[in-house]
Amino acid sequence: MTTTERPTSPPADAKGSPRTGRRIRRLAVSAALAAVVIGGLAAAVVVFQPFDEGFNGGGFANVVSTETPAVNPLEIPELLEPTMIDGVATYQLSLDASSHVFRDGVASETIAYNQTSVLGPTLLWRTGDQVSLDVTNNLPEEATTTHWHGADVPVEADGGPGSRIDTGDTWTASFEVIQPAATLWYHPHLKDLTAAQVYAGAAGLIIVEDDTAAVDALPHTYGVDDIPIILQDREFDAAGQLDFELDLDDNGDLNPELTVNGTMNPYVDVPAGLVRLRLLNGSQARVYQLSLDTGAAFTKVASDGGFLSRPVELTELLIGPGDRAEIVIDTSDGVVNLIDADFERVVELRPDPAEAGTGRIPDALAVVPRFAPDGFDNERSFVMEAVGEGWGINGQQMDPARIDETIQFGATERWTLSAPEGIHTFHVHQTQFQILEINGAPPPPEDAGWEDTVLVTGDQTVVVAARFDTYTNPTMGYMFHCHILDHEDSGMMGQFQVLDE
Ligand code: C2O
Ligand code: CU
Ligand code: CU
Repeated sequence: MTTTERPTSPPADAKGSPRTGRRIRRLAVSAALAAVVIGGLAAAVVVFQPFDEGFNGGGFANVVSTETPAVNPLEIPELLEPTMIDGVATYQLSLDASSHVFRDGVASETIAYNQTSVLGPTLLWRTGDQVSLDVTNNLPEEATTTHWHGADVPVEADGGPGSRIDTGDTWTASFEVIQPAATLWYHPHLKDLTAAQVYAGAAGLIIVEDDTAAVDALPHTYGVDDIPIILQDREFDAAGQLDFELDLDDNGDLNPELTVNGTMNPYVDVPAGLVRLRLLNGSQARVYQLSLDTGAAFTKVASDGGFLSRPVELTELLIGPGDRAEIVIDTSDGVVNLIDADFERVVELRPDPAEAGTGRIPDALAVVPRFAPDGFDNERSFVMEAVGEGWGINGQQMDPARIDETIQFGATERWTLSAPEGIHTFHVHQTQFQILEINGAPPPPEDAGWEDTVLVTGDQTVVVAARFDTYTNPTMGYMFHCHILDHEDSGMMGQFQVLDE
């Protein structure tokens, strides 16, 4: 028998934060859990530690062992194809108060899109389409917004904090899809309420398709061999309701239960062969360290902004809040579990030997022209740090009335991102950037594609490059921020304008 035990305290070098009392409470809870676990085991404790040290500083995770089969069929969000009206791909979305059974037959109150129980439909966009999305706020007494994370759209359509939708109102976003095939996502983005609304369930995936050969070759039958995997950790109170808290500590709020598309301990039936997973870390703060329980390699084919130039074989993958990655797993040898360093099971893939997968992995996926290492029009640096009671960037907290950075239209820019302490992810609206350097070294091939979100931990300096040549935004700001939602909502966000003058 294999049993598991998780580390229960932060690594020795983790910096305790005097700003709040949260870490102390968390340690008390996890020590109690550890006592229960250890008391029930007595013998044969095998430590499950695929990675040296929990990236999240000790887990706070209820482990789901892969020694026993998963119990719940993975819920697959419905695919929402556009309705074509006068040549415009039209979508209707609503934000609704809802409820979802995560576990034990108890309905937990949620916020979800389009009267689903949790999350929302997966939107299918096609490159070159003119789209129009109506978003109606049916939440009884909460304003909201809806942002298309990773999308290159005009600022009026971006759905940032300035595009508030009050109860009963409808906001319409109209734009052309000008970017290549990718996995993006959408979620509320109202100042101070982003964490609470996303945690309550409001989020969904966006699949952008184009007519490149890779789209056709890779597994691409949605819900069959092309599976959305939305990773979110949650906590339930004694009554089974979602227990939301903002944690101003270094790492943000970690929650003990893993939900995948809203499903706990899930399995999914797949063909035997290649299966593509579209991974989204839609969590408040947790970083996932993913691998396969067989130890086999898998293939990363896409980063945040679309395909890598070539497929990259990996045995582990780190995915921070806000990030996406597309991976392809070979299931021809039988059942395989995607596992995480904190939770163990993420999802069990159950191949049907009678059904052969039809996808393949092309040698070349896309043309990703790399930025030259120098010759940028401008350089900036962004330090993500504690400011006042919360968090900030370059010593300042988010102020809706202040534009922090002004960028010349058409410019290429080199940005140096750093953080003296904690775990952060830097996200920029409207553009996709490339990582030039991580601690002075060029990125590995799996991190050399287009990104809109990058992990920046307290021991890293990450240099990225972007080109701002699609839209100017003289009327309102695009956001850049940490995608640990506790940090974003406590000030770690700023605004930029691209101006042609
Ligand atoms: Cu995922 Cu500013 O957003
Ligand atoms: Cu975004
Ligand atoms: Cu942060």
